[in-house]
Amino acid sequence: IRDEGLKNIQSAVDVKSIRENIKVKLLGKKGPITKALRGIKDLPVEERPKVGSYANKVRDELQTALDAKIDELEAAKLNQQLAAETIDVTLPGTPVSSGHPHVIQSIVDQITDLFLGMGYEVLSGPEVEEDKYNFEMMNLPKDHPARDMQDTFYITDEILMRTQTSPMQARTLEKHDFAKGPLKMISPGVVYRRDTDDPTHSHQFHQIEGMVVDENITMADLKGTLELLTHQLFGDKFNVRLRPSYFPFTEPSVEADITCFNCMGKGCNVCKGSGWIEVLGAGMVHPNVLQNAGVDAEKYTGFAFGLGPDRLAMLKYGVNDIRDFYLNDVRFLSQFN
Ligand code: PHE
Repeated sequence: IRDEGLKNIQSAVDVKSIRENIKVKLLGKKGPITKALRGIKDLPVEERPKVGSYANKVRDELQTALDAKIDELEAAKLNQQLAAETIDVTLPGTPVSSGHPHVIQSIVDQITDLFLGMGYEVLSGPEVEEDKYNFEMMNLPKDHPARDMQDTFYITDEILMRTQTSPMQARTLEKHDFAKGPLKMISPGVVYRRDTDDPTHSHQFHQIEGMVVDENITMADLKGTLELLTHQLFGDKFNVRLRPSYFPFTEPSVEADITCFNCMGKGCNVCKGSGWIEVLGAGMVHPNVLQNAGVDAEKYTGFAFGLGPDRLAMLKYGVNDIRDFYLNDVRFLSQFN
C-alpha cells in the first residue's frame, strides 16, 4: 500500500486529482489505512501496538508526500502562469482617453488653492438668490439706477438668478462672528445676466468673489493681495494697476488691470494699445454694506473683489468667443488638457 501510494503521488500531474482521487483513496474513510487501523481490535493483543504504529507511520508518510506534491504542483503552476503573463515593457502602450477638468474649472481651482493657502474660507452660495442679498443688502435699493448695470433674470419680484457672486458678501457678513477672528473668504460660482449671447457676452458666466474684513484693513491689503495673486498665477513679470471706478457696494471702488498677456505691456490690439487688461472689480467694502449685515462699520473695514475666470481664460489662451467655453465641443475643450 505504501509503495503503491507513494508511486501514485509522485506521478500525479494536478492538484485536483491528488485531492479527489489519491487522497480519498489512500487516506479516506474507506481507504486501506483506515481499514487496517480499524482491524487492529481483531488482532491478538501482542500484535496490536506493532501493527498500529506501522499503520500510523505509513499514514503520516503518505500525508507528508501528498502535501509536498501539492506544494510542488502549485509552485509549478504559479511559475508557469508568471512566465506566460510576463509583460513586455518595450511594447508601445494603448492610449487611454480620459476626461479632464474644464479649462474654467482649472482656473477656478488654481485660484481657490492659492486663497486656501492664505487661510481663506471657500464658500459656495445659491444661484437662485433673493433680491435682498443680490441687491438690497449690497447697497442697491429697489429704485437704484445702478441696478441697470446688471440686467437681471427675475423669477418673482423678490427672487432672481444672481447677477454676481457679491450676495455672498452679505450672506457671510451676516453670519460672521468677529470675536473668533477676521473674515476671509472667497466664493467661486456661476452668475446670470439678461444679455444676448455674442463673442464677449454670455447669459451665464463665472465669478470669484473675495472679501476680507477685520480691524484696520486698508486698500494696501487689497493691492498686496491682488499682486500676490497675479504673481502666483502668471509670474513675476506681471504687474497690477488699480483704476478708479464705481460699484455701489464699495467705496472707493477700483478696477484692476494686469499686464497684457499678449504684448507684456507694450501695447497691442488685444489690450487696445494700453499694455493692460482689465480683470476684476474691487474696492473697500461700503460702510452701508457692513451696517446692513449688522457689522460695526466704525470698528471694521474690509476689501472685496470680484473677478471673472472666463475673461481670464479668454485673455490667457487667446480665445475670442466666450461661447466656446459653454458649447461643450470636446475638440475645443481638449486643447486645455
Ligand atoms: N460684483 C461686481 C460685478 O459683478 C464686481 C465686484 C465685486 C466689484 C466686489 C467690487 C467688489 O461687476
